[in-house]
Amino acid sequence: MTTAPIRKLFFGDNLEIMRDEIADDSIDLVYLDPPFNSNRSYNVLFRGDDSRPSQARIEAFDDTWHWTRETEAEYDNLVANRETPREVTKAIDAFRRPLGKNDVMAYLVMMTPRLLEIHRALKPTGAMYLHCDPTASHYLKVICDQVFGPTRFLNEIVWAYRDVGGKTTKYFKRKHDTILAYAKGDEWTHNVQRGPLAVTTQKRYAPYFDADGKITYRTLKESSPGVFASLRSVPDDLDEVCLDRSQGTQLPDWWTDITPVTRRALEGLGFQTQKPVALLERIIKTASDEGAVVLDPFCGSGTTVAAAEGLGRSWIGIDITYLALGLIKQRLRDDYPGIEYEEQGSPKDSVGARALFDLSPESFEMWAVTLAGGRPNPKGGGDEAIDGGIRFLIDKETAGWITISVKGGDNVSVSMVRDLIGTVENEKTEMGVLVTRVPPTKGMLEEAARAGSYVWPFNESRFPKIQIITTDELLRGERPKTPPESGTSEQAPNAIRDADSGEQLSLD
Ligand SMILES: C[S@@+](CC[C@H](N)C(=O)[O-])C[C@H]1O[C@@H](n2cnc3c(N)ncnc32)[C@H](O)[C@@H]1O
Repeated sequence: MTTAPIRKLFFGDNLEIMRDEIADDSIDLVYLDPPFNSNRSYNVLFRGDDSRPSQARIEAFDDTWHWTRETEAEYDNLVANRETPREVTKAIDAFRRPLGKNDVMAYLVMMTPRLLEIHRALKPTGAMYLHCDPTASHYLKVICDQVFGPTRFLNEIVWAYRDVGGKTTKYFKRKHDTILAYAKGDEWTHNVQRGPLAVTTQKRYAPYFDADGKITYRTLKESSPGVFASLRSVPDDLDEVCLDRSQGTQLPDWWTDITPVTRRALEGLGFQTQKPVALLERIIKTASDEGAVVLDPFCGSGTTVAAAEGLGRSWIGIDITYLALGLIKQRLRDDYPGIEYEEQGSPKDSVGARALFDLSPESFEMWAVTLAGGRPNPKGGGDEAIDGGIRFLIDKETAGWITISVKGGDNVSVSMVRDLIGTVENEKTEMGVLVTRVPPTKGMLEEAARAGSYVWPFNESRFPKIQIITTDELLRGERPKTPPESGTSEQAPNAIRDADSGEQLSLD
């Protein structure tokens, strides 16, 4: 019997979500890449400081943890909680003395209850892959040894990447990440991965590979009798494959063949800590089989989610920022058009929208951009005029852009429309959409109407150059009027029909 795949995206704090939503023994594989700004100076991270702002305000790019009153409370809860295994309490307590109240200690206090939840949620045959770097990996390993048991440690994988930038004369360039792998029980999934054949072997036998990149013992016997004669063992059936171009030696625990996501990478979404799909594919293929459930509680731009979907696994992604969720939704739309998944934690009505704005104006902006059918601007938020954009096709080869600006506050004014008009002109985008949480004033609507129309060259249909739409309208299913994003207007979520004839338009 085949069961429907699980596809769930949660917006919120992973500790609460794992506690409330993820059942015991239900997950096959957890990959996590928790935020830790180790690009900052090591010395800064080891400085004690309790005067920093609340951790609740953490955003995707402010990914350093600080010791605050909340951390102190979390620490007390952890050590006082009877359910925390004694070995774990002892380990975290032991770190407290040498580390004091610095950022590393705050990070460990944040991580420990989450690691306990991950352990609880894993199936007895499940495994965890924890992505970190040398700044804190040694402390994390001690905690993981206590949470999983030291005998459950599988690997410390070193992902060494190509030298992209960075100069130092005081020590070697730091160019690797560490991935700690643990199993929950005595049995776990490990599908052996192989790298490509060694280049020298490939060159030596190049003339004898068949069209599928394989050489049989029979071919070897005929082409290189000396080598054949020196083999220690030969199968009875000489048509067995002895060399396969795609099946080299078994991969060790250090990987050098995966390129990080650079600014120019095709898969790049502009998310600073985005990991390559190839890395996640390798981990998922190794540690799970088709149909398995993969959880990423710090899912960022959704690399795990996208890789799991591509490999036929069920997935659950959690992130605390809407910038991340917006990017994931865009990514899923681009990579898997029409995909359906459950989304939890996002506002469903105006009360929820208000609550999100109060919690985090930046997350509100990213949520509103996504709801309007746009792509969040990773640099948006704060005072940035452009919070996101909607792409559409001007013709078969040229993309047009619609600038999205979001205003979540109670007060809206004509100046916001004028600012958007100015941004659209400066940025040379085709149109602009202002998304407000409260209804626009009459003056705003008049100012927007005065901006005139954009004429879509494809069929001369007209669209308001500047549109205003509220989050309530978006929640009711209304969308800005735009030409189709790609393909035919039938496929596009914002499909338009010719205003007079209702005829469907196609760019195919
Ligand atoms: C290093 S990034 C993950 C990058 C991801 N692996 C990728 O490939 O894009 C860490 C993510 O964890 C999220 N995060 C931080 N604290 C969180 C929490 N308590 N609950 C859920 N997500 C959290 C951040 O918003 C950020 O998107």
